[in-house]
Amino acid sequence: MTERTEAIQAHWTRAGVLGRIEAALAAAGHDPQCPPLAALSAIDHLHTGGLATTKDQAAGITLTAGMRVLDIGCGIGGPARHLASTFGCRVDGIDLTPEFIAVGQELTERAGLTARVVLRDGDGLALDYPDQAFDVVWCQNVTMHIADKDRFLAGVRRVLKPGGVFTSTEFSSGPGGEIVFPVQWAYDGRLSFLDSEAQMRERLVANGFEIVEMSNYSDVVRGRMRAAASAAMPAMSNHLVYGDDTPERQRGTLQNLDERRIIYWMIVAERA
Ligand SMILES: C[S@@+](CC[C@H](N)C(=O)[O-])C[C@H]1O[C@@H](n2cnc3c(N)ncnc32)[C@H](O)[C@@H]1O
Repeated sequence: MTERTEAIQAHWTRAGVLGRIEAALAAAGHDPQCPPLAALSAIDHLHTGGLATTKDQAAGITLTAGMRVLDIGCGIGGPARHLASTFGCRVDGIDLTPEFIAVGQELTERAGLTARVVLRDGDGLALDYPDQAFDVVWCQNVTMHIADKDRFLAGVRRVLKPGGVFTSTEFSSGPGGEIVFPVQWAYDGRLSFLDSEAQMRERLVANGFEIVEMSNYSDVVRGRMRAAASAAMPAMSNHLVYGDDTPERQRGTLQNLDERRIIYWMIVAERA
């Protein structure tokens, strides 16, 4: 395992996630052994804008029953469970952080979705799936940790069927200057690797993708983040996963978006 992999795992690991989720579910009147996805969704979509962003991203692609989706960097599996239960597709999810996969497997089991959601430990830079196995590769707030983006995209292309779709919500650097830390994904520059918009576009094309949509989604999530930041931290929120310094990291992300030091993109690219 590389030092960087260990650092990413350490960044996201907060022991006791499942216990905190169970306690919050119980306090809100839900059975933690049989949690409704709607209740979990405030906690288990670990990206900018949460479930609303997941829904917008899904609306930009075609998903049908029988399709196979790979969610790279799936976290605790909220988006995977949402896609499988909404569209009937099968979702394989991999993540570098073992704590997330363990929690994600347990929640998937309790939600009764193991027939269509399979989560396991894995690295998006070393995909151990056959060529052309997936209709869709799905990614949310993961590529900021990936320095070797060409290797990542080459792997994504390899596992996609011809005409398959890669969709990603991700940050680029922006014209507003150097990123200010902390942000959700890093306390300093060691775990943060952002391309510019131009580099993102070039890289997608160079790695065999046709860009179908690449929209600046920053204003949408800024609105959602600001509304959340002005309220008290709700009992059911992803701070149960991220840890106690969630508000500070969220404020950092929002500041960088406000000052256009970073830009949040919604990308749909077809395997050419
Ligand atoms: C902000 S979380 C997003 C989780 C999930 N995509 C979601 O939106 O709910 C970022 C995740 O990326 C994972 N990650 C980072 N680099 C990865 C890699 N090379 N392969 C797999 N997962 C990775 C981290 O372990 C972490 O769980």
